[in-house]
Amino acid sequence: MEKIGIGFLGCGNIGCGVYRLLETQAGEIDKNEGVSFEVRKILVHSLDKKRPVPQELLTSCASDVLDDPEISIIMEFMNGEEPAASYMKYALENGKTVVTANKMALATHWSEILNAARAHAGGLYYEASVCGAVPIIRALTNSLQANRITSVMGIINGTTNYILSRMSTEGTSYAEVLSDAQKMGLAEPDPTADVEGHDAAYKLSILSTLAFHRHVPVEQVYTEGITAVSPEDVQLGQAFGLTIKLLGIAKNTNGKIQARVHPTFVPRNHPLASVNDAFNAVYVNGHACGEMMFYGRGAGDMPTASALVSDLIQAAKAKRHELPAVQDEVKQTDKNWQSVYFVAAKKEQVPRVMEALRSENVGIATEVKTGTNNERAAFLTTHASEAAMQRALGCVKGLDIGMIRVENMEN
Ligand code: HSE
Repeated sequence: MEKIGIGFLGCGNIGCGVYRLLETQAGEIDKNEGVSFEVRKILVHSLDKKRPVPQELLTSCASDVLDDPEISIIMEFMNGEEPAASYMKYALENGKTVVTANKMALATHWSEILNAARAHAGGLYYEASVCGAVPIIRALTNSLQANRITSVMGIINGTTNYILSRMSTEGTSYAEVLSDAQKMGLAEPDPTADVEGHDAAYKLSILSTLAFHRHVPVEQVYTEGITAVSPEDVQLGQAFGLTIKLLGIAKNTNGKIQARVHPTFVPRNHPLASVNDAFNAVYVNGHACGEMMFYGRGAGDMPTASALVSDLIQAAKAKRHELPAVQDEVKQTDKNWQSVYFVAAKKEQVPRVMEALRSENVGIATEVKTGTNNERAAFLTTHASEAAMQRALGCVKGLDIGMIRVENMEN
């Protein structure tokens, strides 16, 4: 059988994982799917670095991959916005199909890349860009089309889930767990994209766009990371039966779109509360399918390679490439959502904080609970608007207040 020529853009952990998976599964893929592949060229920065791929495939010249007429599918795992986005567009404009794991390039250049694919009838496959091996992209684009999706809520960054899981179970500080995660190679030496929520924002932009059939630009995703979360507040939340997660939350309420990434408490009996360590999970609510959760490994060479090679097979077998149906762009997401809020402060300052909240008509829903060291105390509010909450917090600026939004809380 004729082999389909493919080219790699990048060959780090993920690229090497893809190469390995293609090698070890070649026979099975051929037997089960009736397609086989030949890696013809691999673009790398440094030709000298040792990699478990044949040296003769390596090139440092992008054109050797992008302009090879024998290469019909480009697999991109370069990381970063550029030159990845430009290479993908170039490949699509030249009639090639692109399979990518790059959420940053895709989220920041969504319309240009999609338009290039549409104009040239090229295939664009990106299952690996969100939640690694977890088949959430295909689920939203293929398996759940009959639904009006009302919300997508997920743990879509493994690094921060690992950090928050350990802070919750051990009471360890953010800085201490981050340093351990870096030593283990789980967190990047520069962890900014993960801990400040940017990585999750790229992924949420893609997920919400697919879920609501409207482009939700990444700039419209409200983004707050986990660096200010204290172990004391995490433990105070546990006293209310709550577990902390960095959630990406997208909701469509009568056409008003919310898209936000921030530390969030969920009740400990919510399915997302039991997703620990570096695992990812996405909780979807559709009007016909009801609630469902997708769970699995969202990062790592082989889980990501699993999604990339599956996309590659799908691309190779497709008679006509399907692109997502996106009607228009959301110019302004709704930033004035309603939420229950967890509020913590020094014990003696709690009455002042409550007064500020009441002055903005934010109700107090629970008793005040004091932490084990007897210094900090916390309570939950009734449902209130984000704007009222921010105004109230503005009145007590300078106090050491921990405010964490609570999802799926009935009160
Ligand atoms: N840094 C990302 C995470 C990798 O921790 O989830 C996968 O996108």
